[in-house]
Amino acid sequence: MNKQASVDLEQDIFAALIANHEVQRDMCEQLESEQDFQKRKAIFSELKLELHAHAAAEERHLYIPVMQHDEGLELSRHAITEHHEMDELIETLEDGRVGQETWDEACAKLIDKVRHHLKEEEDEFFKQAKKILDTDLQQRLGALYQVEHEEYEKAHASE
Ligand SMILES: [Fe+2]
Ligand SMILES: [Fe+2]
Repeated sequence: MNKQASVDLEQDIFAALIANHEVQRDMCEQLESEQDFQKRKAIFSELKLELHAHAAAEERHLYIPVMQHDEGLELSRHAITEHHEMDELIETLEDGRVGQETWDEACAKLIDKVRHHLKEEEDEFFKQAKKILDTDLQQRLGALYQVEHEEYEKAHASE
């Protein structure tokens, strides 16, 4: 079982997001090192739930507030476009009609995209966002993000 980041309402939005990025990185590593196809599919299901919960809560509690500012428009659009690209790969991986070779290719692409996205967020977008949002708001968004992420996971756990 994968470890989940625990809810810590003292964390600001960036600390909370990065804690979930670490969970995603662990899941990508497990997915890469597992050879058994059925087990790979089970790890993928967990990664899918985490990616969806993270993207929904991150868009609502980071990118939408950042988008209210002119200097935050472009970075938010870029990040949300990448969330969409990950979703398209997830759709292929959920399509029961694809063979193992296609599935493995799409899975490798998803892992690459997740790693690229996390790095770009941490190295660029979060640094820019930190300058845009005042510290009090960063703190409040941290709690909102974590609650939303938890609720999303609970609501969609059986999918
Ligand atoms: Fe993201
Ligand atoms: Fe993220």
